[in-house]
Amino acid sequence: MKRRVVTIGPCTLFLGDCLEILPELGQVDAVVTDPPYGVNLGKTKNGQERDKKRGSYTGFSDTPEYVRDKVVPAVKIALSKAERGLVTPGTKNCFLYPPPCDMGVWFNPAGQSTGRWGFMLASPILYYGKNPKNIKQSGASSTWGSFERLGELKELHPCPKPLKFTQWAVKKASLEGETVIDPFMGIGTTGVACVNIRRKFIGIELEEKYFDVACNRIEQALKQGQFDFGGTAE
Ligand SMILES: C[S@@+](CC[C@H](N)C(=O)[O-])C[C@H]1O[C@@H](n2cnc3c(N)ncnc32)[C@H](O)[C@@H]1O
Repeated sequence: MKRRVVTIGPCTLFLGDCLEILPELGQVDAVVTDPPYGVNLGKTKNGQERDKKRGSYTGFSDTPEYVRDKVVPAVKIALSKAERGLVTPGTKNCFLYPPPCDMGVWFNPAGQSTGRWGFMLASPILYYGKNPKNIKQSGASSTWGSFERLGELKELHPCPKPLKFTQWAVKKASLEGETVIDPFMGIGTTGVACVNIRRKFIGIELEEKYFDVACNRIEQALKQGQFDFGGTAE
């Protein structure tokens, strides 16, 4: 499998399989990740693509088995190297994950997708480890809103997360100046969020086309921000 490492300011991005790369990495402060949901993304039951524009993953099969055998073990390794973690596992396979310390939801009144019992208006947020903030300063453990239209991001990846939601998640799980890892980086939304609110970032992505977009987005975010990562009070 092709591997690459790119350093952009305070961000280190790895192209490759996170299950192989994670054991080689050191300790970090927080895991913030949005792994594949195991929902056969973009495919019908006979394996054809449902939505040509949206497409589906090509580097792996987005199945419940993939979540069980690859995603959950990788999340466990990442969590073992961090003080704490925030994971958005999707609904269908969230029970395959280790029991969290706490749970929240991302309530989206515009709807997420259709589940076994109906139209889903919320998706789970799993919390691991200890809240980095004083409970009085923590705010809610859930959030709501469709935040923003994904616009052109939808053409770059089958399921990018909105930047504002991701920024909320990074802020929730980490403090300014800390190091955040996302082993399922996609097109780098967690990295852009980290740059915008002054966290160091480590990202891993399997598919080169998403990895390249992540490098570009993070570079642009750094150019726009010109932040000093020396660490000031939040
Ligand atoms: C739900 S998407 C993350 C989207 C991301 N939050 C964003 O906004 O761009 C999950 C990503 O994990 C990647 N992935 C799947 N298996 C992986 C693996 N073994 N190692 C690294 N990345 C992987 C997929 O290619 C996909 O881009």
